[in-house]
Amino acid sequence: MPTRRDMTGKICLVTGASSGIGRATALALAREGATLIGVGRDRVRCERSAEAIVRASGNYKVEFWQADLSSQEEVRGIARRFHAVHPRLDLLVNNAGGRFARRLTTAQGVEMTFALNHLGHFLLTLLLLERLRQTGRARVVNVTSAAHRACPGIDFYDLNLKREYDGRRAYAQSKLANLLFTYELARRLAGSGITANAAAPGNVLSRFSLNNGLGSWLSHIAGSLKSGRLVGPRRGARTVLYLAWAEEVAGKTGGYYADEREASSSPASYDQAAAGRLWRASLELTGLADQAQEGRLP
Ligand SMILES: NC(=O)c1ccc[n+]([C@@H]2O[C@H](COP(=O)([O-])OP(=O)(O)OC[C@H]3O[C@@H](n4cnc5c(N)ncnc54)[C@H](OP(=O)(O)O)[C@@H]3O)[C@@H](O)[C@H]2O)c1
Repeated sequence: MPTRRDMTGKICLVTGASSGIGRATALALAREGATLIGVGRDRVRCERSAEAIVRASGNYKVEFWQADLSSQEEVRGIARRFHAVHPRLDLLVNNAGGRFARRLTTAQGVEMTFALNHLGHFLLTLLLLERLRQTGRARVVNVTSAAHRACPGIDFYDLNLKREYDGRRAYAQSKLANLLFTYELARRLAGSGITANAAAPGNVLSRFSLNNGLGSWLSHIAGSLKSGRLVGPRRGARTVLYLAWAEEVAGKTGGYYADEREASSSPASYDQAAAGRLWRASLELTGLADQAQEGRLP
């Protein structure tokens, strides 16, 4: 059993906390006495999750903020709200995510999988960096997937996937982006006290892929069952929580974890040139390039 650091009063923000792995993570953190800010997209699911987590944990320092994290405007709104209310951030869990069978775009014209699974969290993390720095020992946990292995590399010539769209490929690319981002963030924050690691939760029974219809959800579940490993959200949250609170990983950064153990991710995920290129492209796409130029970002 990993040794847990005391989470009492630790300020934790979990995205995608209104369902599945994020909700299980949020509940476990609330049970340990954390001050919890959950973010979700659906207002009703946010309200119900907040009520259920308070009831089950007896912790009243739980609130849910509704936002569509594929919208950069709404991500900026969450960051502004956080800055206005909380002096520091001890733990950021970038968990919200999805797969989209059909190609969708955001109001800004960015392909939805890339916008939600990668860009929204890239932007949120950089906007909250100052609050993470206040802590001295803050942790960033990005939720990726073993599915990243299906992507041999980011297609920088078609980040918006205009040429040919395949939902599974788009998902795999976004989960590879999660890893490239995690490793690059860890390199850029080396020595800052802030650690960045990635967790693969395994195959989890959740609402994942239900947005594509019941048939798609059932085929996702059937595929997971066939692979022999389908776990509930609580089990799926274990590696995320390990990275969030285990003393064993204090100070460890730039790692990929599955089953509460450090593991190797795909060769493509260790491509530092690709990580640097993705970082620069993400700065441009989120309007942060000027701040970076002025040296205000790592
Ligand atoms: N399930 C698996 O087998 C599996 C395997 C590997 C990795 N993962 C990863 O685990 C993470 C969580 O997935 P899950 O299985 O727990 O799925 P889930 O039950 O569908 O939960 C997804 C969460 O993300 C939120 N979300 C989705 N779109 C959003 C948006 N535009 N803005 C804000 N929040 C949004 C959802 O909010 P609402 O409920 O309010 O819509 C929900 O809270 C994802 O990053 C996924 O890629 C899952």
